[in-house]
Amino acid sequence: MNALAQQTVGRIVAENLHTAKIFESYNIDFCCQGNIELAEACRSKGLDLEEVIRQINAAGRSQTRGQPDFFRLHLYDLTKYIVDVHHSYMYHLVPEIESHLQVASGTHAKSHPELKEALHTFAEFKDVFFRHMRMEEEEFFPYINALAQANVGTAPMPPPMKMGLSEYIRFLEEDHRTASGLITKIKSICNNYVIPSDACITYRLFITQLQELEADTHVHINLEESVLHPRARELEQELKS
Ligand SMILES: [Fe+2]
Ligand SMILES: [Fe+2]
Repeated sequence: MNALAQQTVGRIVAENLHTAKIFESYNIDFCCQGNIELAEACRSKGLDLEEVIRQINAAGRSQTRGQPDFFRLHLYDLTKYIVDVHHSYMYHLVPEIESHLQVASGTHAKSHPELKEALHTFAEFKDVFFRHMRMEEEEFFPYINALAQANVGTAPMPPPMKMGLSEYIRFLEEDHRTASGLITKIKSICNNYVIPSDACITYRLFITQLQELEADTHVHINLEESVLHPRARELEQELKS
């Protein structure tokens, strides 16, 4: 059997971010359910495994040019990449979407009352995810970076995290599921991003931005769950033994 069949979908996306679109087109969750092998994911969706592998191969190794090898990147650089690329993007995009959603829900208060619920759910998403990113930036990433320094002997072993690394990661991954669920809820409230014929420009704009936000959140979560978290657990284990 092709080696790709036994790889997890999360790992396939982390190795080549361009494959994310292929999984999205088949409605395969590579983000919070990324730990499933490709063969099993295809079986559960009734997909032709060989055809999906053909598409993944067609996405091509050449497309990974310019993308860091996340599995080999120094942990300091990996956490920096996540903050610089994904967290910064969120801090910039989320307030913009919120303000567009506010305007559109006012303009379309009568014709699209569901936008009020979308706005409320989006505020919930913002609370969860901003609090989550702050925890990563202020506690989790510094701890991982300290572990990486201890590993090369440039700093002593940091004191263990209060709740323990595995428990802390479990907590963060629970946040990922909550945030991902809230995005799915917003998508469903917004009729799966189908833009109604009477939509104003601001309405069209926030729908496009929501789609971008969803795609980036999936890649962001997968990078943490398929690469960063396993590498951090492994490193702590190694240093303890
Ligand atoms: Fe993050
Ligand atoms: Fe996260």
